[in-house]
Amino acid sequence: MCGIIGYVGPQGAQKVLVDALRRMEYRGYDSAGIALVGPDGIASAKKAGKLVNLESELAASPIKDANLGIGHTRWATHGAPSDANAHPHVSANGRVALIHNGIIENFASLKAELVAEGVPFKSETDSEVAAQMLGREVERGASLADALRAVSRRLEGAFTLVAVDADDTGTLVASRRNSPLVVGVGEGEMFVASDVAAFIEHTREAVEMGQDEVVEVTASGYRVTDFRGNETQGKPYHVDWDLSAAEKGGFDWFMRKEIHEQPQAVADTLLGRFDADRRLTLDEVRISEAELRTIDKIVIVACGTAFYAGLVAKYAIEHWTRVPCEVEIASEFRYRDPIITGRTLVVTISQSGETADTLMAVRHAREQGAKVIAICNTNGSTIPRESDAVLYTHAGPEIGVASTKGFLTQVAACYLLGLYLAQVRGTKYGDEIATIMRELESMPAKIQKVLDAQQQVLDLAAELVDSKTVLFLGRHVGYPVALEGALKLKEIAYLHAEGFPAGELKHGPIALVEQDLPVFVIVPPQGRDQLHDKVVSNIQEVRARGARTIVLVEEGDHEVEPYADVLIRLPQASTLLQPLLATVPLQVFACELATLLGHDADQPRNLAKSVTVE
Ligand code: AGP
Repeated sequence: MCGIIGYVGPQGAQKVLVDALRRMEYRGYDSAGIALVGPDGIASAKKAGKLVNLESELAASPIKDANLGIGHTRWATHGAPSDANAHPHVSANGRVALIHNGIIENFASLKAELVAEGVPFKSETDSEVAAQMLGREVERGASLADALRAVSRRLEGAFTLVAVDADDTGTLVASRRNSPLVVGVGEGEMFVASDVAAFIEHTREAVEMGQDEVVEVTASGYRVTDFRGNETQGKPYHVDWDLSAAEKGGFDWFMRKEIHEQPQAVADTLLGRFDADRRLTLDEVRISEAELRTIDKIVIVACGTAFYAGLVAKYAIEHWTRVPCEVEIASEFRYRDPIITGRTLVVTISQSGETADTLMAVRHAREQGAKVIAICNTNGSTIPRESDAVLYTHAGPEIGVASTKGFLTQVAACYLLGLYLAQVRGTKYGDEIATIMRELESMPAKIQKVLDAQQQVLDLAAELVDSKTVLFLGRHVGYPVALEGALKLKEIAYLHAEGFPAGELKHGPIALVEQDLPVFVIVPPQGRDQLHDKVVSNIQEVRARGARTIVLVEEGDHEVEPYADVLIRLPQASTLLQPLLATVPLQVFACELATLLGHDADQPRNLAKSVTVE
């Protein structure tokens, strides 16, 4: 996600800001910029690409240093990574400069309102809307803090906003909803940032801002209110992490941090998906609804974890749209001469958007006349650029090589795509889609619940640290979850692990089962009785042969208790959505086991984050 820093104090702000942006480089970004406020008003510089581009720009065209400023590293969501889309955004009247992290869901209607008033826009971002709204409020005579409160009340979605006023060289204001904001309290200087890594070299005294709060900051202090102006209080704390821990949000690995970011990441994937008429929309669609109605087959193409997300998607898409859906490993796709026609919809899934195998599949599919929709996390990457439509997962950069939040958000995006197709093709009524969306929107809180109960899984990893083989079993959507659980263990714990469809076990793999072999089993919710009961029988089969059964099962399901050596409880969810919950303990288990075995969980041997060769 974007990196945010604001500074006010005696130091030259330019260096403080650029140093802070460097400290936040680990978050991943595709452009950077700063704005300073001095007696002559706002001066800004912003550049696409790495920080070094911004530094070169500042060296070639210096801007006058000041004691107040804001800085930003952008991870593109709305609009490609470009100079114009980089932050800060300065309002058309020149009064306000603003930086933003998050997604403003209702930006389109707000933008239309401003455009109707004649406000010119310079970027394609949702963020510029907030800058223009603030500029308009301030010009009408509101203080910057009042203006930010008023604007924040009108925004929907997730945002951290930091703004400065050209006419005030001593104040910065910031607000937050569903996106982090922390204040750094120094000696005669103050900071606001998206995380403490940005200011840790200056101060370790921090104040965490609450939901829907605005903070007004000067060099000598800060004042916090809610969006209505009622005084509230942030939560002061002392930061005792070193820099490397600070970058990882206090976690030992980026992977662990990303596992814990999943409630927010999934919520962000689901944000802003409805238009004014409450109809689902995708990010960029260059395929008409009429064309989508003619589709007679869907082929999902992806690699690794993204392929497993596709396997989950198959169940949901076929169930909701009744269109046959195949899932194919991208590196196999074009070599088998797949049957692709103008009525085939190819869906690619890729976190990086640069995976060569998947990209080649996109090209092959388009050559055959198919339409291609990309589900991707990286805005402006090659796969979405070469596709006919894009659905971004908005998970923020994933740094750990082993995909975690990438997977969960891909699965969430696949559900959105399935529902979108059902809407377009009329295979589900609007109220049915709304009911499923409501359940989807309840999932982040349930994922958090799974994470809150992780201690049991950490203890289990310690207990199983000497295992040589681990098996994972599941049926229906539990099967891809089993595959993903096994892949995580192979990747980072270098442990032999296999995922199987639970029913397939007796056709061969059950010969692997021996005394005390750990076998994870994902049990479907009780509503699907046949499915559920079959899995319960499978647990008994392996247990009878000496396996140590670790059973992931929903709360309230007591039927499996006699056959489970370890019970991992999951919040209740419908069968199709259960992978969003069941995958999480398996990720935690793999990360912990890798840690206990002394492996680097973020950069496992022989693996690269983005595989750009076939
Ligand atoms: C998962 O943990 C992986 N590291 C790997 O399988 C990955 O999912 C695969 O290479 C696809 O990458 P992509 O999503 O960037 O296309």
